[in-house]
Amino acid sequence: MVKVAVLGAAGGIGQPLSLLLKTNPSVTGLGLYDIVNTPGVAADLSHIATPAKVEGYLQPNGGLAKALTGAEVVIIPAGVPRKPGMTRDDLFKINAGIVRGLAEGVADTCPKAFVLVISNPVNSTVPIVAEVLKAKGHYDPKRLFGVTTLDVVRASTFVAELLKDPSAASSVVVPVVGGHSGVTIVPLLSQSSHPLPSGVDLDALVHRIQFGGDEVVKAKDGAGSATLSMAYAGYEFACKVIKAINGEKGIVAPSYVSLAADSAGGEALANELGTSLEFFSARVELDAQGVAKIHTLGNINESEKKLVAAAIPELKTNITTGHDFIQKPS
Ligand code: NAI
Repeated sequence: MVKVAVLGAAGGIGQPLSLLLKTNPSVTGLGLYDIVNTPGVAADLSHIATPAKVEGYLQPNGGLAKALTGAEVVIIPAGVPRKPGMTRDDLFKINAGIVRGLAEGVADTCPKAFVLVISNPVNSTVPIVAEVLKAKGHYDPKRLFGVTTLDVVRASTFVAELLKDPSAASSVVVPVVGGHSGVTIVPLLSQSSHPLPSGVDLDALVHRIQFGGDEVVKAKDGAGSATLSMAYAGYEFACKVIKAINGEKGIVAPSYVSLAADSAGGEALANELGTSLEFFSARVELDAQGVAKIHTLGNINESEKKLVAAAIPELKTNITTGHDFIQKPS
């Protein structure tokens, strides 16, 4: 039984994500926060006959603290989404400040909560949350997660399409590691649960997975980026976190986490990568305390090794950008 807070709950992702959370019987409280429209969203959701008590708050009168009070899971989809021609990093200036303010609220009100960051650029916003929590003396690397599930959902969907078997759509699993932006998104197609048909153009498939978000941004033509598929993916990840908190064992989920969250796994992964990185997206085993085990990459082929090598410098830059925003404000 868990209270979940959604920060940015009135947005394109926040609303469908809150709807899905309201349908989950393990969610007993839903604290919705946004700078607009949350009372309406909360009133609407509160008519659904499921256990979660829904409350919606706006900024004035300590709304953020009220939404966060008692939350064991905090999901952050607040911020601006991409428009055509923008990269996720173009969002940094606006979203960094939004995420910093929300992370301060988490540190002040529910410092032990699991924090799931959706706001882009995830590669940099997660280090921002880490720095804010560190500065307030509440950082637990086991409980901070960048939500990269959509990359796995997309990879699995695109592979299922190539298999030309609609019934495979929900059973295909393709691990995706690295980060959540362009070349840092590294699909491990050699580890797909379903072998790819022969003759598939692997480079084109990798490119589609890395830049799949652009398909949605282009199709929405200025009206935002992925919201519904993101809400689905965010909910899938949140469900795993909730199950782990409720004591279920053996839950494994992809996420962008601190390699310090499991020092043994983090060290083994750093050895595979040939470099130290503070954050990396990997398969992560969860328990009631948070990250229990970070999985290594396992067997990857030569072209996947090249993709990993290409991701590392970009990830390092993105992580430094996040740190510097807090440590060296201009
Ligand atoms: P949106 O613009 O529809 O919604 C964002 C919401 O955040 C709005 O309701 C807005 O009022 C709210 N907001 C702005 N400042 C706030 C503050 N200080 N406190 C609380 N709420 C605040 O955007 P959308 O499409 O929901 O995207 C949200 C974020 O998620 C964007 O940064 C986007 O890039 C990111 N995203 C991440 C994905 C991932 O895989 N991790 C996938 C797709 C989008």
